[in-house]
Order: sequence, then C-alpha cells, then structure tokens
Amino acid sequence: SKASSGPPPPPPETVKKIGVVGAGQMGAGIAQVAAGVAKLPVLLHDANKAQIDKAFKFIDVLLQKDVLKGKITSEEKDETLGRITKSDIADFKDVDFAIEAISENSALKRELLGVLEKALPDTAILASNTSSISITRLAAATKRPEKVIGMHFMNPVPVMKLVEIIPGLATSPQTLQTTLALSHSMGKTTTQSSDMPGFIANRVLMPYINEAIYVLQEGIAIKEDIDTTMKLGTNVPMGPLTLADFIGLDTCLAILKVLHTQLGDDKYRPSPLLVKYVDAGWLGKKTGRGFYTYE
Ligand code: CAA
Repeated sequence: SKASSGPPPPPPETVKKIGVVGAGQMGAGIAQVAAGVAKLPVLLHDANKAQIDKAFKFIDVLLQKDVLKGKITSEEKDETLGRITKSDIADFKDVDFAIEAISENSALKRELLGVLEKALPDTAILASNTSSISITRLAAATKRPEKVIGMHFMNPVPVMKLVEIIPGLATSPQTLQTTLALSHSMGKTTTQSSDMPGFIANRVLMPYINEAIYVLQEGIAIKEDIDTTMKLGTNVPMGPLTLADFIGLDTCLAILKVLHTQLGDDKYRPSPLLVKYVDAGWLGKKTGRGFYTYE
C-alpha cells in the first residue's frame, strides 16, 4: 500500500454480485474464491459452454480435496458450488462487479469490455485479470474508464495469497477502494502497481525466468541444477524453469515481448532458447513438454 497525504479515500461500495467471464484456470479459481471465501453469488460465463462445465468439475474436485482434508464441510462445499451459476452475459443485469479472465488478447478484451458495459448497470466496476495489457488502454475502450481496473490474480488462484491491483490513468479512488475491499473479502493480500508493463510481479519475475533460460542456453548448468539452486538457495516452491513450464512458455514469451518492446531495454530480450521451445510447441506443463516432460 502507498503512503498518501491527500484527502482520506472514499469508503468502498458493497459488492453484491460478481460476474466472471472466462472459465479457464484463472476464471474458475476466481469464481471459486468469490463464492467460497467472499461468499458472494457468482455468474460464470465463457463463450465456450463446454469450458464452463469443465470449470465446475475442476472446482468440485478442488473443493472435494478440501473436504477430505477437513478444511471445509461437505455442506460448505455444496453452498460454494450453489453460489456459482452458469450464465450468459445478458444475465449480468444486476452484477455490480465483473472480472474478465479471457485469453490475453487486447482486441478481444477491449471488445468484451464493450459488451459488458452494455449488459451491466452504469455503476458496475469492470476488472481485468490481465498480466500484460495496459489497463489504461483497456479502460479507454469503454465509456466508464473511471470504473475499469486491473485485478491480477496469481495461479493457482485458490492457493496464492496475492492480488496485484492496477488502477489505470483514469481509475477513480472509489473504484480502487471497492476493488481492494473485494480482494480482501476474497481472502487475498493486495499490492498496488502503476499501470506500467508487467506491473510488479511480471516485471520482476519474467527477467528472472529469462535469465535462468539464458543460463541453460549458455550451458552454464543443467536444468535440474538451475532449479535446485534457486529452489533450495532462495526458498521458493519451484525453480525458475519448473515455474516457467507451470506458467506456460508461450505466456512467458508473450510477457517478455511486451516488456522488451514497451520498455525498450535489451535486458528484457527473450532468450532464443525460449523462442525455440515455443516454436516447437513445447509450451510446458499444459502440452506435456517444456523444459521437463509431464505425463
Ligand atoms: N488449484 C488449487 N489448489 C492447488 C492447485 C491448484 N491448481 N495446485 C495445488 N494446490 C494446492 C494443493 O491442494 C495443496 O493444498 P494443501 O496445502 O491444502 O494440501 C497445496 O496447493 C500445495 O500443493 P501440493 O502439495 O500438491 O504441491 P506443492 O506443495 O508443490 O504446491 C504449488 C503446488 C502451490 C503450485 C506450489 O508449487 C507453488 O506455489 N508454486 C509457485 C506458483 C507461483 O509462483 N505462481 C505464480 C505464477 S506467476 C502468475 O501467476 C502471474 C502471471 O501473470 C504469469
């Protein structure tokens, strides 16, 4: 949080209903914590209807694990699932806070925000889970830029405690306060970043991952030793190459390209080895092969 000397921030508005668009891993996780931790009704939409069914199964499996571990009761599991409804965007009429977690494509996100803006009340906030697109640019696609904000969740959403909050140039203090309060009600710790490429997390993480790939490319060490060095040497849960596979090598490359192009410094230049893996379709865990192989 930031120290400030101006007027006190406005009180947050109470969020009563959440709309989540995009039922992939991120969207499913966001729906799960909004319903399970913040205990809010959630409308979940995906352009691909089969994806919503997959998301429900995914959430069910995760909640069942929590039941078996004694973290929640089976009644609580059913209540959480019962708060999530498969929906069309046209049903978002009384949603006061929408979070989009569709694929990382600026044109698609801008188009979606335009659709959401028409479906939701004028007072509703539109949040984006983007990891690399300018919030200011997304906000400018709407007629309510003061109500657009970045809400960057980390994967896996139910486990990771952080949400990075990114106000765009026009985002109002009221929108910021409501988003902070909602994030806290979802059990998350928040940090705040200016709307600059990579925000905080990826500005620091991607050059670190990229450097690990350069160490591999230059033959300085084998992949296992790079990962073990960082895992045991700096007490992180995964070494950088394992983490890159977990995030997706295509995603890492896309974010590095944004940093490189927009910040203009060659310290962000994606490793040619990373480019080669992506060219091969070896995208990490999701394709069964990246720096490591997965069954
Ligand atoms: N969804 C929900 N819960 C999950 C999960 C998932 N996909 N994967 C694991 N978990 C849970 C497990 O159920 C387990 O819960 P309990 O503690 O209640 O038993 C817990 O997480 C630990 O899991 P495991 O014991 O199976 O395995 P682990 O100890 O290796 O942890 C991990 C797995 C949580 C993924 C851990 O390795 C980790 O934290 N890795 C780093 C993740 C990370 O850095 N994420 C951020 C990536 S960057 C990003 O997201 C931003 C971006 O823009 C690119």
